[in-house]
Amino acid sequence: MASIDSMNALLVDELRDIYDAEKRLTKAIPKLARKATSDELRSALEEHLEETEQQVQRLEQAFEHLGERAKAKPCAGMKGIIEEGDEHVGEDYDDDDLRDAVIIGSAQRVEHYEIAAYGTAIAHARLLELDEVVGLLEESLEEEKAADRKLTEIAETVVNLEAASEDDEEQSGSRRFATSSVRATAQAQGRRRSSARKK
Ligand SMILES: [Fe+2]
Repeated sequence: MASIDSMNALLVDELRDIYDAEKRLTKAIPKLARKATSDELRSALEEHLEETEQQVQRLEQAFEHLGERAKAKPCAGMKGIIEEGDEHVGEDYDDDDLRDAVIIGSAQRVEHYEIAAYGTAIAHARLLELDEVVGLLEESLEEEKAADRKLTEIAETVVNLEAASEDDEEQSGSRRFATSSVRATAQAQGRRRSSARKK
């Protein structure tokens, strides 16, 4: 394999890695969406699948700007994150909400990895003064960040504590009271956080 001898070559290599990651995700996200129980979670994942397909196209445009062939280089990091997610989501859960909580965790690991990868590639494209490439990558980075925020919102307001409380309701009345007040507090915090974000 040819050695990476310039910042330009390094950027191309990074984009090939991200290209592979995004293409893997176009297959992995539908699997996660199918296993989700919460409608909100499922539609957030389906929405992000559409964005991911556009991100693949944006990378192809970036390769075009660089005069390079769009070629994927196996991304071991994303492969591992997806495998780990499959494994966790496939475990036995007493409650579907608990599985949703795991799906959110897996999807957020994906987003954070992508946010890091795009961040680095953008910095390198900026050093090379490749404005069009920077613009394309920034558009995708913003989508990844928004998807991550959305997942946090879903985790805080819909899934986790609902799952825990249903479990507790079967077990004890006093714990039910304790859990529902915890849930109410968490939901209020979630609302405060999302209204703070809107400002
Ligand atoms: Fe992505």
